Amino acid sequence: MNKRKVLAILGGPHFDGTTAKMLDCAIKKAERAGCEVTKIDLYKKNIAFCTGCRVCINTRRCVQNDDIREIEKSLHECDTVILAAPVYWANVPAAVKNMFDRLLGTAMEETSTFPKPRLSGKKYMLLISCNTPAPFSWIFGQSRGAIRNMDEFFKTAGIKPIGKIVCANAANKKELPKSIVRKIQKRL
Ligand SMILES: Cc1cc2nc3c(=O)[nH]c(=O)nc-3n(C[C@H](O)[C@H](O)[C@H](O)COP(=O)(O)O)c2cc1C
Repeated sequence: MNKRKVLAILGGPHFDGTTAKMLDCAIKKAERAGCEVTKIDLYKKNIAFCTGCRVCINTRRCVQNDDIREIEKSLHECDTVILAAPVYWANVPAAVKNMFDRLLGTAMEETSTFPKPRLSGKKYMLLISCNTPAPFSWIFGQSRGAIRNMDEFFKTAGIKPIGKIVCANAANKKELPKSIVRKIQKRL
């Protein structure tokens, strides 16, 4: 039987930060469950800004030939995407937003009405960290903008959610709280 393929993307610049710990926890669980995991550190990649040319809508891939190719390929090959990102200004970090921009034609086809998904049948999981402590994190919607943005990309691409986990008060956490570990493990 083919192994389930998981693409794990770290969308933050700290390779030992809270976001990275959340992703590592998910990767370990996925590997224990027999999945084949490909990890991509977005901040180590050379990915230029989207120029908005929209050629990808017809060609299905970006005209700029840089490290986005690796992500396009891995997205096509995987069954599940796990995207981990810190909250920056109540949204995703610029590198994550730019990755979505560069994947426009990989993710969707334009029609005269609604966009048609190009990555249907896959699943996605979101792991998010922010510094604002609960309950202020949710009262002031600190992760809402980031989740809204990530959902927009994955849902438009036809990818279905399996979990969205937020670790608040990240600055004061040396270790991942057990409740967060349990939530991550439960969904994979
Ligand atoms: C540019 C920038 C903007 C940020 N904006 C927010 C914010 O709007 N809300 C919040 O709760 N934390 C914010 N933070 C804190 C980060 O979310 C926090 O440092 C991160 O979750 C820690 O994860 P890491 O250890 O993986 O870097 C911001 C941090 C930076 C660097």
